[in-house]
Amino acid sequence: MPGIVLVGAQWGDEGKGKITDLIASDFDFVTRFQGGNNAGHTVIHGDKRLALHLIPSGIMYPNITPLIGNGCVIDPRVLIEEMDMLEREGFSTERLLVSGNAHLIMPYHLALDAESERRLGDSEIGTTRRGIGPAYQDKAARSGIRVQDLLDEHIFRLKVKTALIEKNDLLVKVYGADAFDAEAVCDEYLAYAPRIVPHITESSQLLNEALRRQKWVLFEGAQGTLLDIDHGTYPFVTSSSCTAGGAAIGSGVGPTAINKVLGIAKAYITRVGSGPFPTELFDETGVTLGSVGSEFGTTTGRPRRCGWYDAVIVKYAAEVNGLTDLCITKLDVLSGLETIKICVAYEHEGRRYTTVPGSQTAFHHARPVYEEMPGWQTDITGCRDFEELPRAARDYIARIEELAGVSVSLIAVGPERNQTITRGWSIRYQEGGHVEGDRAKGSRVEGRRTEGGRTEGGHVGGRHVEGNL
Ligand code: GDP
Ligand code: IMO
Ligand code: MG
Repeated sequence: MPGIVLVGAQWGDEGKGKITDLIASDFDFVTRFQGGNNAGHTVIHGDKRLALHLIPSGIMYPNITPLIGNGCVIDPRVLIEEMDMLEREGFSTERLLVSGNAHLIMPYHLALDAESERRLGDSEIGTTRRGIGPAYQDKAARSGIRVQDLLDEHIFRLKVKTALIEKNDLLVKVYGADAFDAEAVCDEYLAYAPRIVPHITESSQLLNEALRRQKWVLFEGAQGTLLDIDHGTYPFVTSSSCTAGGAAIGSGVGPTAINKVLGIAKAYITRVGSGPFPTELFDETGVTLGSVGSEFGTTTGRPRRCGWYDAVIVKYAAEVNGLTDLCITKLDVLSGLETIKICVAYEHEGRRYTTVPGSQTAFHHARPVYEEMPGWQTDITGCRDFEELPRAARDYIARIEELAGVSVSLIAVGPERNQTITRGWSIRYQEGGHVEGDRAKGSRVEGRRTEGGRTEGGHVGGRHVEGNL
């Protein structure tokens, strides 16, 4: 019953969509467990380039069941638009499942997100303004509207009317904004119901049953470790648990269902929105990384802030997520640089930090301590084997590995799926519920791979098992 979690190890946009698409064919389920359409996951599938915000990046594979878990917040208008986009592109969304316990993003959440950011002025978080924070606020306040409420018109209208008594007061009296008409909101949302209701499921039961039947589940994280509500650079974070522990809470499986945690980090680092960023570059190199790496937000189009690879952050991500593997993406973007810097520590008021400082003030003012390594001048986008990389690139990866204390088992050298170096990535399942990395090339999954990319038969619990894993 391998459950594997894929998480961002930085501030988001690490290339989670590409890597999910790369490894998804080995799985039976791909499930999102937190966040909403603040996410923007770019997937190049065949000749199509798709930006997915809400639907799991495995949707393109006909053998996979995509699931939006209970930990997510769903804007139904966006969900329907995304389903329509996928259908237009030739991908069926019939198999898509949505947890009835996921919360709905309501129109007043979008308004409150915009108003509270406006009120913060220069101190704004720089949210995506998709209503994420206010939707999670209502979830915690127990006044949220859930997907399953769409099944009962009476309850739905009652809950929305009750919520709006308070929300309208807040909007009108505190923010000086317009009030919402409860009937109009209900009519709009209940009109979405026929499109969404056929997809509603009980995600916890479904996944646990699937795991019992030896199905393979990939938990696809959104955002990144440093945007996590508990472990990120609070308050400049999103409102959900983006770290690996969130996969259990946000989908209803126990932590023992998770056998492996794959962290995704860029070979440099970016951030969208406000907040501390010790290695941020304000010079020509920063501009180069942004333009070569096409660093513009998939969701909002905002230019991403760029900086040198921060090993302190990735080591921290390795700890809070319990990473078993690391994937380094966008290594190709560094080609052509004379030298490359890695931040190995911070300094603040005479103190040296080799892990993320506990104090927000220290993190804000942390000065990066760099190691400098030689760059490489060749194009590496065609490399498919670790040994084909120039010596300097191999040394860079080796240093990243050493500083993180985690094996770099995947390296991306371009946005296309095949522009990837597999260096020991394996989801071979071992006796005792342990999934072990395997440095042998070409043995990602033991068992036969069929035409559709599905694995038939394999080693489960040390025994060879026939049939679909
Ligand atoms: P996500 O939110 O983590 O899924 O990442 P995004 O999709 O928002 O941003 C990553 C961007 O980098 C996308 O445009 C990807 O197509 C692109 N990308 C992913 N891996 C690589 C890589 O190895 N090299 C290059 N040049 N681009 C990549
Ligand atoms: P993916 O999944 C990068 C950032 C926003 C803002 C903060 C809070 O594509 O990696 P929110 O709208 O969530 O309340 O905004 O979080 N943010 C992201 N940054 N990638 C994302 O998702 C993000 N989702 C939210 O820019 O700083
Ligand atoms: Mg993104």
